[in-house]
Amino acid sequence: MAKKIGVITSGGDAPGMNAAVRAIVRRGISLGYHMIGIRKGFKGLLEDDFTTLTSRSVSRTINFGGTILHTARCPETRTVSGMNRAVKTIKDLDLKGVVIIGGDGSLAAGNELVKHGIKVINIPASIDNDIFGTDETIGYDTALNTAVEAIDKIRDTATSHERIFVVEIMGREHGFLAMDVGIASGCEFIVVPEVKTNMNSMVNELKLGKERGKTSQIIAFAEGAGSSWEFAKKIEDMTGLEVRVSILGYIQRGGRPTARTRMLASQFGNLAVELLHAGKSNLLVILSNGKISSVPIAKIINREKKFDKEKYTLLKNLSI
Ligand code: F6P
Repeated sequence: MAKKIGVITSGGDAPGMNAAVRAIVRRGISLGYHMIGIRKGFKGLLEDDFTTLTSRSVSRTINFGGTILHTARCPETRTVSGMNRAVKTIKDLDLKGVVIIGGDGSLAAGNELVKHGIKVINIPASIDNDIFGTDETIGYDTALNTAVEAIDKIRDTATSHERIFVVEIMGREHGFLAMDVGIASGCEFIVVPEVKTNMNSMVNELKLGKERGKTSQIIAFAEGAGSSWEFAKKIEDMTGLEVRVSILGYIQRGGRPTARTRMLASQFGNLAVELLHAGKSNLLVILSNGKISSVPIAKIINREKKFDKEKYTLLKNLSI
């Protein structure tokens, strides 16, 4: 039986990917495996770009954002020839299985590998926290903290000038990150794709807020909800109040992973290798109700994570 395991970080990087790679490499080595790092996501499989990983290769990486293996978006995995090439590389390398750390796109590519007889365990990693089946993804808590810290700073200048701010938060077509950022940073409003915004009522609330003595009002605006610039302009036109836009952008993807992110990544990585070692495949490791476990990919692929509307109303109640 082959004693080699491959590890890939794929799609958008997320803080904590290194902590996961570290856990995978060290647990793999402790179980007697030779560990292979595939570089630049699935591209590495198409370009034969891989390297041996030792316990020392992952020393002093737990505290760094990004991914030491590098990553890429790789549309070629959606083509028959691209997938065949990826499968050939894995077979030539004689890997017992592959651990894929990434988001939705990576799950889909992993699922295709499985159809070609490759053993795959997936680890959810994305700042968007949008993967069905897991309460949390690697990187989400770090991005949340980064955005909250940024909004704390924006609040200082917003208050000094008595301005309204529209702060754009990443999350692709989902508002999971924006909602939690909004609640944790005490924003007055959240605009997310999952909930229709009533402009008239928001404008009234903004005016009322001003009358009630609010010196700043911040709207956490999910990037998937449209153009933050157009939204801000509308608010300015409808209220006559001064509105500024701040797009947090890629700073949300970088930086030192929080302790929570590192813990989650370490636990996910450890379990992923143990599952492969036990001969399992086609699973996603998850956090559910405080417990780390795994679910079959078939149960989660192409399913939409539910948006917590109850949590959404919390902000409304607390922003008076
Ligand atoms: O999925 C993570 C994410 O950062 C999203 O929040 C964002 O919409 C997207 O990736 C940006 O993608 P790219 O790195 O390809 O610009």
